Amino acid sequence: MVKIRSELPRDAVRIHEINSLAFRGSLEAELVDLIRFACSDMVSLVAEVDAVVVGHILFSPVHMVSDDGRLLDGMALEVMSVLPKFQGQKISSDLVSAGLRVMELQQYPFVIVVGLYQYYRRFGFVPAVCYGFQSQWEDLPEETFLIRILDYKTVEKLSGTIRYRDAFDVSIQKPADFGNLMAGCCHGNHNNP
Ligand SMILES: CC(C)(COP(=O)(O)OP(=O)(O)OC[C@H]1O[C@@H](n2cnc3c(N)ncnc32)[C@H](O)[C@@H]1OP(=O)(O)O)[C@@H](O)C(=O)NCCC(=O)NCCS
Repeated sequence: MVKIRSELPRDAVRIHEINSLAFRGSLEAELVDLIRFACSDMVSLVAEVDAVVVGHILFSPVHMVSDDGRLLDGMALEVMSVLPKFQGQKISSDLVSAGLRVMELQQYPFVIVVGLYQYYRRFGFVPAVCYGFQSQWEDLPEETFLIRILDYKTVEKLSGTIRYRDAFDVSIQKPADFGNLMAGCCHGNHNNP
């Protein structure tokens, strides 16, 4: 039985371990630690099986700068991981679904992710270009920059560029190996095998 809950302070070491093992390197684990330190309005959830944490998902704030200069806050699915031994059991699906429910409860109008449309469409993500939104990275393939609209009234009639917080510019890099990505969180994933 999988239980999804918010990250607690005692989970930090375990989350670092899960990300390091799932990504086969420490880059994403370090990014999670950085965001936790720098970003009080992140949303971090864990998946437990038999009271043991085996999966993790992290959302961080982004904003849309509309073509007419307005700002609209939203969230980005940043990092998602499931311990290799527990992969293939739909735990990531439970994490994404639970995360989207939290985003809805917190009244964010949209969530973005850089990832595979074939995977994320099951959660209602569509290419952001369909709504007139673009990424801050001009050469990011349109089909990998995805958006899930949670509040159509707020978002409709807007178009513009979605940006990560400037504070993260130093750590966040555009993922290069789009073919292998399921989530956009993997800033720097191109360093992985
Ligand atoms: C990606 C990851 C989180 C998926 O977790 P999971 O719990 O094993 O996934 P699920 O069991 O929920 O699988 C859901 C679907 O995704 C597909 N899938 C799993 N890994 C995939 C991948 N790397 N690429 C494309 N599709 C993938 C599964 O085939 C399944 O498809 P189906 O429902 O059509 O059969 C996990 O494999 C992982 O931690 N990978 C390493 C880290 C990573 O790449 N994270 C994503 C980028 S941040």
